[in-house]
Amino acid sequence: MRIPYYESTMHRQIREKREDRKDRIKNDLQKYGGEVLDSAEMQEAFEQTHHRRSTVGEHTIRVAVSSVMICYALRKLNIKVSIPAVVIGALCHDLGMLGRSEKYSSARECSREHPKDSVEVAKELLDEIPEKAEDIIERHMWPIGESEAPNSIEGVIVSVADKYNAVKDIVKGSEINNESDE
Ligand SMILES: [Fe+2]
Ligand SMILES: [Fe+2]
Repeated sequence: MRIPYYESTMHRQIREKREDRKDRIKNDLQKYGGEVLDSAEMQEAFEQTHHRRSTVGEHTIRVAVSSVMICYALRKLNIKVSIPAVVIGALCHDLGMLGRSEKYSSARECSREHPKDSVEVAKELLDEIPEKAEDIIERHMWPIGESEAPNSIEGVIVSVADKYNAVKDIVKGSEINNESDE
């Protein structure tokens, strides 16, 4: 006999809360980063492998989602954070490494140069970059290599979300392109 699935009130509330949060994140990404999300560069980002088993695009979205979630948590603690700066910083932070194999002669050069190149991409894509976003992008590699440390709370958020999701990319791989799941 099949037992019918019963969703308790508590489980329903948890599910609805999660769905609301997902919608809120989606809306914030679209509201502040729509131009970047709809760009040809972002499309190309989903074609370039990153962190061995993922793509620059998927990594970027993961970093943006985690960063925005950290912002919500900090705001609950009455800590002021700029969501527009975090969204643009997160969405643009790695776009400078598109075409990596032709652009850089080594992984080290890519690691050192792509933050500055990502700032250039952000400037090309947007008429106006939110205050702090340029520094967020330029310093996001911290604490790796010779990167300068973030100089804003928003910069720390994106740097931490970047490292967390670099690990997630390697562990989870691509959810879109399973071929890279070897
Ligand atoms: Fe990066
Ligand atoms: Fe990254």
